[in-house]
Amino acid sequence: MEPVKVGLLGMGTVGGGTVNVLHRNGEEIARRAGRGIEITHAASRDLNKPRICSTEGITLTTNPNEVVENSELQIVVELIGGDTLARDLVMKAIANGKHVVTANKALIAKHGNEIFAAAQKKGVMVAFEAAVAGGIPIIKAIREGLAGNRIEWLAGIINGTGNFILTEMRDKGSNFEDVLAEAQRLGYAEADPTFDVEGIDAAHKLTILASIAFGIPLQFEKVYNEGITRITREDVESAEQLGYRIKHLGIAKKTANGVEMRVHPTLIPERRLIANVDGVMNAVLVYGDAVGPTLYYGAGAGAEPTASAVVGDIVDVVRTLTSDPENRVPHLAFQPDAISDIPVLPMDEIQTAYYLKMRAQDKPGVLADVTRILGDRGISIEAVLQKEPTSAGEQATITMLTHVVMEGSMNQAIADIEALKSISGPITRIRLEHLNKK
Ligand code: NDP
Ligand code: HSE
Repeated sequence: MEPVKVGLLGMGTVGGGTVNVLHRNGEEIARRAGRGIEITHAASRDLNKPRICSTEGITLTTNPNEVVENSELQIVVELIGGDTLARDLVMKAIANGKHVVTANKALIAKHGNEIFAAAQKKGVMVAFEAAVAGGIPIIKAIREGLAGNRIEWLAGIINGTGNFILTEMRDKGSNFEDVLAEAQRLGYAEADPTFDVEGIDAAHKLTILASIAFGIPLQFEKVYNEGITRITREDVESAEQLGYRIKHLGIAKKTANGVEMRVHPTLIPERRLIANVDGVMNAVLVYGDAVGPTLYYGAGAGAEPTASAVVGDIVDVVRTLTSDPENRVPHLAFQPDAISDIPVLPMDEIQTAYYLKMRAQDKPGVLADVTRILGDRGISIEAVLQKEPTSAGEQATITMLTHVVMEGSMNQAIADIEALKSISGPITRIRLEHLNKK
C-alpha cells in the first residue's frame, strides 16, 4: 500500500522533532499504523534557517496555504502555533477534506468548538494529544481508558516551563529571568513566554482537560487564572516547614453546583507523588469514581516528547482512514449531541483550603483578633507558624493554614484582617489542596 502523505505546517521545535521521530522510527511506526507515513511537504517562514531535522525529500515552502491546498496530502499537521493563522489554516484543511493533527492548545481551547463541528460535518479527524502535557498521552487516557468512570476531579502540573522555573529556583536558588531564558533555549517556552509564567498556557490546557473529563463545551474564557510570578522564596520555605510544596496546578472539579476550573499556585502535601514532579516534567492526577485516583507522568515539553504525542496522533488517524467517521472516538470524549452545559462556578463559590501570610505588630492580642475574624466566618485553622522579629521595631510574620472554606468567605475575612491596624500590607493567600479524596 502507498504511504500516507503528510504536510507539516511549522518546522520549529515540535515540527523538527516530529520529522526526526518519524524518520528514526519509521519502520516500527509503519508496522503499527499498517502503512508507511511520509512527510512530503512542509511550510516555515524562513527556508534558510538551520533546522534540528533533515529536510531531504520534503518540498519546502514559505506559503502554508500551498500545504493545506495540496490534493496529494491526506493529513495536515499544524505546528505553527497562535490562534489566528493557525485557525485559518486548520479550517481550510478541514474544508479541503484533510485530517488534522495539532499541538496547539491555544487554538483548541479558543476555537475547538467551531473546529470540531466543522470536522464532524466533513467527516475528518482533528487530533490534539500533544496540546496537553507534552508527551503524556493524557487525552487518550481520559477519553478512552477512563470512559467507564464519572470523573470527579483532576489536578495537573501542565506547564513544563513553569515547573522548570519553580524547581530551579527552589533547588539551585536560580534567578527567575535566567531560568526562563534557559527554558526558551531548550525550546520549552511558548513564543510569548508570558503565556507560560502567567498561567495562560495552563489555562488553555485545563480548558481541554475539563471538557473531555466532564463532557462540557470548551470554555477558555471561564477559567480562573493566576501565574507563578508572585511566588516568593519565603513562601516556598514556609510551605516546606509546614510539610507542603508549592506547585502551579490546573484544577477541574465537578461539584453538586457546577464545575470549578482554575489555574493557580497551590500548596500540596509533600508526600503526594505529584508534589515531587520536578523540572520540565508534567503530571496529571485524575480521580474517577470507579478507578479512584490515577496519575500520569512524563515530559511536558520539548521536541521529541511532544513529537511522540504528535506521531501517536498521526498513527491514530492513519489507522482510522478507512473507518466510518460516525464510529470514531468523539473529539471531546462525549458524543457531540451529548455535551452538557453544566455551569462553571465563579471563584467566590469554589471551595478550597488556604495558606495565609501576614505581617503583624509584635504585641499581645493580634493573633486573637485574626483568629476571631476567621472564626466569625466559619473558617477553622489547621496550623499556625509565627516568626518572631529578629530586631526591635521589626514586624512578626504569621503564616497559617486553614481548613476548606468557600472562597467568597475567605475574601471577606482577608479584607477584615487587612483592615486591622496591627496588620500591615496585603495578605499573601495561596490555595491549598490535599488531593486525597472526592
Ligand atoms: P516554534 O516557534 O519552534 O516553531 C514554529 C514554526 O512555525 C517555525 O518553524 C516557524 O517558521 C513556523 N511558522 C510560524 N509562522 C509561520 C508562517 N506565517 N508561515 C509559515 N511558517 C510559520 O514553535 P514550537 O515548535 O515550540 O511550537 C509549535 C506548536 O506546538 C505551538 O502551538 C506550541 O504551543 C505547541 N507545543 C509546543 C511544545 C514545545 O515543547 N515547544 C510542546 C507542546 C506543544 P520558522 O522556523 O521559519 O520561523
Ligand atoms: N510552553 C509549554 C510548556 C509547551 O512549557 O508546557 C508544552 O505545551
